[in-house]
Amino acid sequence: MQKDTQIFDLIHQELGRQRSGLELIASENFTSLQSIQAMGSVLTNKYAEGYPGHRYYAGCEIVDQVEQLAIDRLKAIFNIEFANVQPHSGAQANAAVALAVLNPGDKILGLDLSMGGHLTHGSAVNYSGKIYEPHFYGVKKETGYVDYEQMESQAQAVKPKMIICGASAYSRDWDYKRIREIADSVGAIVMADIAHPAGLIAKQLLNDPFDYCHIVTSTTHKTLRGPRGGIIMMRKDFENPWGVKDNKGNLKTMSSMINLAVFPGIQGGPLEHVIAGKAVAFGEVLSDDYTEYALQIQKNAQELAKLLVAKDYNIISGGTDNHLVLIDLRNKNISGKKAEQALVKAEITCNKNMVPFDDKSAFITSGVRIGVPAVTTRGLKEKDMQFIVDSFDKIIRNPEDENVIAGIKGDVNAFMKDFPLYPELG
Ligand SMILES: Cc1ncc(COP(=O)(O)O)c(C=O)c1O
Repeated sequence: MQKDTQIFDLIHQELGRQRSGLELIASENFTSLQSIQAMGSVLTNKYAEGYPGHRYYAGCEIVDQVEQLAIDRLKAIFNIEFANVQPHSGAQANAAVALAVLNPGDKILGLDLSMGGHLTHGSAVNYSGKIYEPHFYGVKKETGYVDYEQMESQAQAVKPKMIICGASAYSRDWDYKRIREIADSVGAIVMADIAHPAGLIAKQLLNDPFDYCHIVTSTTHKTLRGPRGGIIMMRKDFENPWGVKDNKGNLKTMSSMINLAVFPGIQGGPLEHVIAGKAVAFGEVLSDDYTEYALQIQKNAQELAKLLVAKDYNIISGGTDNHLVLIDLRNKNISGKKAEQALVKAEITCNKNMVPFDDKSAFITSGVRIGVPAVTTRGLKEKDMQFIVDSFDKIIRNPEDENVIAGIKGDVNAFMKDFPLYPELG
């Protein structure tokens, strides 16, 4: 059989790009080679609709063990009773929870997309804003921190069925206890979407959402450093409060409603090869090496924030508790879009991002979001943040100077040579 050189040449080029550049996209990471190998395995051939021990296909004895290992490891990481590892992505995990909890037209309350929220938390262009009735809270203009008073007043006014906390571009920790109190006062369910900080929560470096939030979703590919995918978790299972019954007349548990919402609700056969990759990554998260990694993420992010502030960059909320910073570039007279385009020419990859109370559109934006999970996987430490900030700053000050950009690109490529990525791949 002829090798598909067109595709494998492109994969090789992408490996080169990942190796030579500074990867600062907050939602990206480099999963381990053994996780990649698990994904690129014969498990992709297997249909396994259903759950371990209860499948609609024959021949699932081995993939049952793979999926059960992923579930057991995930439960051990977060000290929880329930885990569904089948969602193909974070958006799928959130869609499954919505299908389990909500009826069309029900009200939801989430963080506004333009304040750092995610599309699946009620955006008008997403199923969550089309099928359900979305309402929003934001962050405080003066501090950049979540406005819990606004969350509370909105909850009282709207009486949502579900409150969603969690974000894509928010650098501070969450007060889950307070959110639960607000939810209880209006009889709402709380869903925490920890897609971004999950790896730090896994190592108790941030507040634990599980005691207060009924349902927790996450991606597996950001700080958790696994393959691209989603998960749904609960510390304690509970009977649904809406009186939904099974065919024997018993109240359904939330875990059964969530499992049914994932399959057959929104997905068909699970991606057992990806679930194997997740299991590998979860095993790594349980290791001491990963504890070191998570601690280093936080140290790097804090150092990065400090150095940026020293160069007069306006960081939303003034700093970070997690793995990212959101920078308002308005005092530097450059849009997020222009900054992103100039930076990528120097192989510094980060993304333009709206900042709270932005006066520019989502296509232009006033800010950029920078995260350190990927560079921390490469091995960069606090002392290396100075190189990142200096390189970033030179580009922001000279976005049209091709000589400056070429010089920085050379520096970046040379710098990253000291931090090998997938050396086994040659
Ligand atoms: C908070 C949050 N939730 C959900 C998602 C969706 O994840 P995915 O891209 O895997 O669907 C993201 C991705 O950026 C996210 O930041």
